[in-house]
Amino acid sequence: MHGIEQVGVIGSGQMGGGIAQVAAANGFETVVYDLDSAALGRCKSLHEKLLSRAVEKGRMTEDQSKDARARLTYSDRISELHGADIVIEAVVERASVKKEIFKGLAGSVSDRTILASNTSSISITDLATSVSDKADRFIGMHFFNPVPVMKLVEVINGLATSKETTERVIALSAAMGKTAVPANDRAGFVSNRILMPMINEAFYTWMEGVAEPEHIDEIMKLGMAHPMGPLRLADFIGLDTCVHIMEVMAEGLNNPRYRACPLLKQLVVAGRLGDKTKHGVFKYD
Ligand code: 3HC
Repeated sequence: MHGIEQVGVIGSGQMGGGIAQVAAANGFETVVYDLDSAALGRCKSLHEKLLSRAVEKGRMTEDQSKDARARLTYSDRISELHGADIVIEAVVERASVKKEIFKGLAGSVSDRTILASNTSSISITDLATSVSDKADRFIGMHFFNPVPVMKLVEVINGLATSKETTERVIALSAAMGKTAVPANDRAGFVSNRILMPMINEAFYTWMEGVAEPEHIDEIMKLGMAHPMGPLRLADFIGLDTCVHIMEVMAEGLNNPRYRACPLLKQLVVAGRLGDKTKHGVFKYD
């Protein structure tokens, strides 16, 4: 149904690495491309660690883990993606960077290749303008962090995405062990439209002195059964990413209610970005 054997992933960070791992673990030949060879090396080491851990935890046999590793290729040459049946982009959340990559790639892939973006909020219709005559095969495939654990893929159609492309992506998501749920192409889609205002409100709640950060999180964990409190989750996602998504929604939905909380913005200015800088709302060792 999906007709996909080879998956190409652009970007070897947390999301790209996670997508590649899940694709390879589910039987797809997977090529991870990144300009930064040091990042590719870190991605490969993490794959080895997580695929070994899966064996220790009894989620995979030794052979399955070995086969998954053998299906993974890492390259700093984008030409390695030319044979892919789907290319999933997971680079920095900047429309200009994403468009530039797709523009460079679109002419070299086959007529059946699906071009997918893992964007968390940027318009799919807008990104698809970079591939002009291939907009029918352009789609949003929004995975969640940590990708090997989270079951959802939010599937976003651009204005020109064909029904066939959507159906192939839904079938591929199932083959990767995920559940695909459709959302329309509005800034933030469904997931971040609802998640980010909750996180933003947690920052206002802290800024206004309603409670200390650890108490805000405890209340949401124990009272609402959230696995992480909103402030811990913001650190996990990255405070800069949270601000960025709020800005995309404020602009795209043309509504000031999506403006980022001043305290959230202040932490970003101070370089407190969350887990990745070991200091955000909370400090990490
Ligand atoms: N990669 C692979 N596996 C991971 C992992 C990772 N990065 N992090 C955790 N895991 C696995 C662990 O190996 C463990 O598996 P096991 O039970 O077989 O040992 C399992 O997940 C649970 O991990 P832990 O016991 O270490 O910790 P927790 O029970 O606290 O779970 C968590 C960690 C899964 C991250 C959980 O806290 C959680 O679900 N948090 C919420 C995450 C969330 O909301 N993600 C969405 C973010 S929004 C997003 O991505 C969209 C974007 O656009 C902003």
